[in-house]
Amino acid sequence: MMNTRVVKIDSSNMKSEDFSDAARLLREGKLVAFPTETVYGLGGNALDATAAKRIYEAKGRPSDNPLIVHIADMNALKLLAREVPDEGRRLAEAFWPGPLTMIFKKNPIVPDSTTGGLDTVAVRFPSHPVARRLIKESGVFIAAPSANKSGRPSTTEAGHVIEDLSGRIDMIIDGGAVEIGLESTIVDLSSGVPAILRPGYITFEMLSKIVPEIVYDSAVLKREPDNKIVARAPGMKYRHYAPKGDLTIVEGCQSQVVKAINAAVKEKEEAGHIAGVLATDETLALYTCRIVEDVGSRNDEASVASHLFARLREFDEKGVEYIYTESFSDDNLGQAIMNRLLKAAGYKILRV
Ligand code: TXA
Ligand code: MG
Repeated sequence: MMNTRVVKIDSSNMKSEDFSDAARLLREGKLVAFPTETVYGLGGNALDATAAKRIYEAKGRPSDNPLIVHIADMNALKLLAREVPDEGRRLAEAFWPGPLTMIFKKNPIVPDSTTGGLDTVAVRFPSHPVARRLIKESGVFIAAPSANKSGRPSTTEAGHVIEDLSGRIDMIIDGGAVEIGLESTIVDLSSGVPAILRPGYITFEMLSKIVPEIVYDSAVLKREPDNKIVARAPGMKYRHYAPKGDLTIVEGCQSQVVKAINAAVKEKEEAGHIAGVLATDETLALYTCRIVEDVGSRNDEASVASHLFARLREFDEKGVEYIYTESFSDDNLGQAIMNRLLKAAGYKILRV
């Protein structure tokens, strides 16, 4: 166990000195967790093969699952990517800095341990002021997966990072709760037609306006686990975002869903289990069970996205063994919400 320092940085009032220890640690190949606009990241020097190995160790992550390289200016892209197609330039112009990751053929300076042995590299230019300043002050490109233990829900506040990674990394920068709450949208520009590998805050609808030919990778839209699909993003083949409890998505018209969930919870409770419900503002009052968490309003999917992972962690804290959730629309931001829920549930859906 190492001693993990937690340092608070207020993004509206930052000084260079606030970053000097974190920047030095990164230059030394050590690990620093930091806030981004999507989720917290577990950062290390992306061009240092040893730092990348430390990231896999700290997360308990399989080392064939590649890392995203975070940059803070457009010149960095030329150094990392061997080829930037025109679509990539247009998407960067439209959405960077911001919650979009793009995959390009990589240059040799990016070590294999950062890309999990692939000849492509994932690059993201985050908009969070603390993340950008950390990259600038350290002078390194920061490889960062989400700052959670492998398989657990991503972290959206420093407390979650402390829970999962304290004693395993050198420093945690506490920049408060993040804004978006779901990981970045990933678009593959390394071969063929531009394809969405992971839906996120930058939606299909938004991307299509810039690159009309964009498609979803077939693995994104599937509603059941299919081991035959070779995932283009290696991370998509692992069970992800999962709370400790057993999660089921209940789909159907609202009154039937509420009825089915109330009945399922009652049955579990009568059998001596702890069961809980992930509800929305609209349905909160309709559940008769003891443990009900409100994830936000259906009329504001951004609020649902920003609370989702924190609520799943709260079920864990309460020792909930069976969790039931309503389903969400499959367009716009609902696509990303459902993608995370399906993975967290291991694709378990109850249709009523
Ligand atoms: O919002 C985010 O993207 C956050 C913050 C910290 O930036 N990061 C994040 O990283 O979510 P991570 O490691 O949890 O997810 C990265 C995903 C994985 O599914 C990985 O397989 C995929 O990106 N990926 C990374 N490099 C890739 C590559 N070269 N080709 C295909 N997929 C790649
Ligand atoms: Mg992750």
